[in-house]
Amino acid sequence: MTLLDIKNLNLSMRSFEGETQILHGIDLKVERGEIWGMVGETGSGKSLTGLSVSRLIPPATGRYLAGSIHFEGRDLLATDEKAMRSLRGRKIGMIFQDPTTNLNPVFTIGTQLVDVALHAGHADPSILGLSGNPSGRERKKAARRVAIEMLDKVGIPNPAARIDDYPHQFSGGMRQRVLIAMAMIGKPDLLIADEPTTALDVSVQAQILKLIHDLVAERNIGVLMITHNLGVVAQICSHVAVMYRGRILERGPVHEVLKRPAHAYTQALLNAIPTVHTKRGELRGIGDIMQEGGR
Ligand SMILES: Nc1ncnc2c1ncn2[C@@H]1O[C@H](COP(=O)(O)OP(=O)(O)OP(=O)(O)O)[C@@H](O)[C@H]1O
Ligand SMILES: [Mg+2]
Repeated sequence: MTLLDIKNLNLSMRSFEGETQILHGIDLKVERGEIWGMVGETGSGKSLTGLSVSRLIPPATGRYLAGSIHFEGRDLLATDEKAMRSLRGRKIGMIFQDPTTNLNPVFTIGTQLVDVALHAGHADPSILGLSGNPSGRERKKAARRVAIEMLDKVGIPNPAARIDDYPHQFSGGMRQRVLIAMAMIGKPDLLIADEPTTALDVSVQAQILKLIHDLVAERNIGVLMITHNLGVVAQICSHVAVMYRGRILERGPVHEVLKRPAHAYTQALLNAIPTVHTKRGELRGIGDIMQEGGR
């Protein structure tokens, strides 16, 4: 069964100025073991697509005009909020862009991770390595153990001691690793990562990408990785979907799309990547390139 199947998704958003259609007929299938990169310029609808899958767009602001989102055969747009809450974290993991807004500064890293592990373990005790009907104390102990294991897995040195630190005691790269640990602790089948490495320097970015890549190889999960960076896509994605103004212009295996871009827009995205040969003052935006291309 297809892990994630988005069909003809049409979304409109309401604001002071009225209602505007943002997503126009998005079709996308993500299978296990695939890492889909979703690229496109700012405002093209990448985040709103990711948020739709996690059902995090409040009904007061967003309205689905048509289409469906199926996760393992289950119709997400018809799933109520209570059921969604148990899917989030446990079946669908999410990482958002800015680690400073995602971690609560007043609680230790451990408290926040243990919370997520307990929540996931409540529905499925095997996540905590427990069976039967464990007591509250057993659960808490197991959740802390699982949290330490997960911190170790994402490469936090000395996790048994660092787990009691507060977020400000971690570097930006470490905080981003904590967010990945948090997203992975419930053993989700689908990971949605919205610009997970944008705030990080290049070497940390490479480590985080490798980490996501390894988790996919190890657990055979599917990933929807939202980014505006084609370099990131070329590094770890198996597939790519190119968005432009709320539509998917083209999609397919990364090597095909990047090698033979069918659309002028994708070509323009590729041309906008600076290389070591780009001279000072030569950096060009998509707009310039599209104009030159005569579209
Ligand atoms: N809450 C909202 N209410 C109304 N319009 C919104 C809302 N959130 C986003 N939009 C509009 O929807 C469009 C798509 O936004 P989205 O956040 O999905 O873009 P994006 O591709 O993720 O861009 P970026 O690369 O900057 O993150 C934008 O034109 C934006 O102005
Ligand atoms: Mg976005």
